[in-house]
Amino acid sequence: MDTAQILEKLQAVPDPKTGRGIVEMNRVRDLDVQGNRINFSLHLPQLEGNEKGALNMACQQVLTEAFGVVDVNIHFVNVQHTGGSALEQALPQVKNIIAVGSGKGGVGKSTVALNLAIALQKSGAKVGLIDADIYGPSIPTMIGMPTAKPKIETLYGKHKIIPIEAFGLQVMSVGFIIEPEAAIVLRGPRLGGIVKQFLNDVLWGELDYLILDLPPGTGDIQLTIVQTVAVTGAIMVTTPQEVAVIDAVKAGNMFRLPNVNVPILGVVENMSWFTPAELPNNKYYLFGKGGGKKLAKHMSTMLLGQIPIVEGIRSAGDTGKPAFLDNNEIINQAFHNLSKNMTAQLALRHEMMAPSRKVEIKS
Ligand SMILES: Nc1ncnc2c1ncn2[C@@H]1O[C@H](COP(=O)(O)OP(=O)(O)OP(=O)(O)O)[C@@H](O)[C@H]1O
Ligand SMILES: [Mg+2]
Repeated sequence: MDTAQILEKLQAVPDPKTGRGIVEMNRVRDLDVQGNRINFSLHLPQLEGNEKGALNMACQQVLTEAFGVVDVNIHFVNVQHTGGSALEQALPQVKNIIAVGSGKGGVGKSTVALNLAIALQKSGAKVGLIDADIYGPSIPTMIGMPTAKPKIETLYGKHKIIPIEAFGLQVMSVGFIIEPEAAIVLRGPRLGGIVKQFLNDVLWGELDYLILDLPPGTGDIQLTIVQTVAVTGAIMVTTPQEVAVIDAVKAGNMFRLPNVNVPILGVVENMSWFTPAELPNNKYYLFGKGGGKKLAKHMSTMLLGQIPIVEGIRSAGDTGKPAFLDNNEIINQAFHNLSKNMTAQLALRHEMMAPSRKVEIKS
């Protein structure tokens, strides 16, 4: 019985936060073997009483089964008190959490969130998408799965939700959660609670990006999110119109409050111009011009991309196949460019700034 053998056995024990092996999740530390005595610590965020007990039992069980009578001593360490980054605590398997916000409704947030997610996935990244627009979830229709129901699993006595797979993305939307079975998990009248559970009680896989499609404006959902996970950065979507820009500044400022401190990675201008197929060199600025640039300047950030008005984008929203998968050159170019600029800004953000932290509420 050596440490390598012990770690191999412990890997079979699922992590209560992610469902993945506790060794892979780097929960097991300070492993020490003396005769038939095994000591180690488990570094985890706050667990509820019965979760802790069940996890303890699971570890004891795999080790006794493998090595016979052993004396297993597990020391639980609450990582909230070890100064580890907030990201490590809430969704340790997710590298970047990107919020997609806007001032006004209908500017194309969901369209941008979904197609950006697909563009990132096509470039080789593992991507998840949360439709946090609890007032009007549109992602289930946009991915052609309006009646999909996520599976529920029980882990250490707690209900966990398995995200829906669509076009290589892991997706969760409040639109999926209306059946009684799922309602067990999504108890509670508070809408924010639903989004909180999407972050805490969904077994997300290992992800490079988790994209959050937010409701428009500033509201409880935005606040709930920054209090539940460490958001890596935000993207603001606007149309070229003046009024859309003013609202977007207000919405973006919420992320920039000193105690929230989520960096704005940049601005996406949607519905920038219209080019008729028969006049490929003409651009018609139906909603005015310059809004994206103006917003970026107001927020001291950059314009990450401009998405033209394309019939294929509108129809894709209804047919349930993301526009990026249509092989329309204009659409693909626009979203490819956006994803490239966003990842570049993200790299810069990681280089220049400390990891984001979850917002702590002071009572
Ligand atoms: N670049 C575009 N070209 C053509 N149609 C577009 C474009 N962007 C968005 N649309 C269409 O505009 C409508 C609104 O877009 P979308 O639902 O993405 O906006 P939203 O900001 O998420 O809205 P809400 O505030 O309701 O959540 C949809 O019908 C969508 O298909
Ligand atoms: Mg939307």
